Amino acid sequence: MMYIIDTANVEEIRRCVDLFPVDGVTTNPTIISRENTNFPTLLKDIRDVIGNDRMFHVQVTGEDAKTIVDEAVALNEFVGGNFYAKVPISAQGLKATMELKKRGIKVTETAIFTQQQALIAAKVGADFVAPYVNRLDNIVSDGVNVVGEIVTMFKGYDLKCNVLAASFKTVEQIHKIAMVGCHAVTINPDLFDTLIYHPMTLYAIDDFNADWASVYGKNKILDLFKK
Ligand code: E4P
Repeated sequence: MMYIIDTANVEEIRRCVDLFPVDGVTTNPTIISRENTNFPTLLKDIRDVIGNDRMFHVQVTGEDAKTIVDEAVALNEFVGGNFYAKVPISAQGLKATMELKKRGIKVTETAIFTQQQALIAAKVGADFVAPYVNRLDNIVSDGVNVVGEIVTMFKGYDLKCNVLAASFKTVEQIHKIAMVGCHAVTINPDLFDTLIYHPMTLYAIDDFNADWASVYGKNKILDLFKK
């Protein structure tokens, strides 16, 4: 499963890239607005930190097909590297997606809440669809089930589109998404930390350290190899 970071905070991206297996970065206008800074400079800074190979998904703000295409073309040229234009699902967004695919620009169809939205996005050539798990759960739907059915449909119809599950609040949601064979998740940096946290792990490490110190004191392994 691909792990993507859902933030535009450059320092947090730098920290996650340094520590975790990060496959890319996703943003949306809300995430960008949180940084409250120069947009082009922010995009360049993020690309510099993640390098050209990692995916960078940046959302358009236009609502008609022509503006969506123009924005995606400009972003693709400016951001460079492994770029995906995030296009919210709509009739105009689908028209734009078909045009962008003709021009060789990769597309992530976002703000997906239903299985049919995902299927139609995949049919017009979207490379990823991004269903919103926690927002589905919050309206008493079942985010994991929606994602699972999208994964099953794509397999059944042999569609090459990947499912990028988004909008997470808990480790449990991410685990269940992995169990339905979802291709990718996008999560905020705090959730990345929480994914690997377990109090029993910390307890075990404390025990190892105490047992080691009971024999070797403050010496670490390299100290014991010094001649
Ligand atoms: C990412 O592609 C989505 O825009 C994001 O995960 C939405 O998350 P939220 O529901 O926490 O705003």
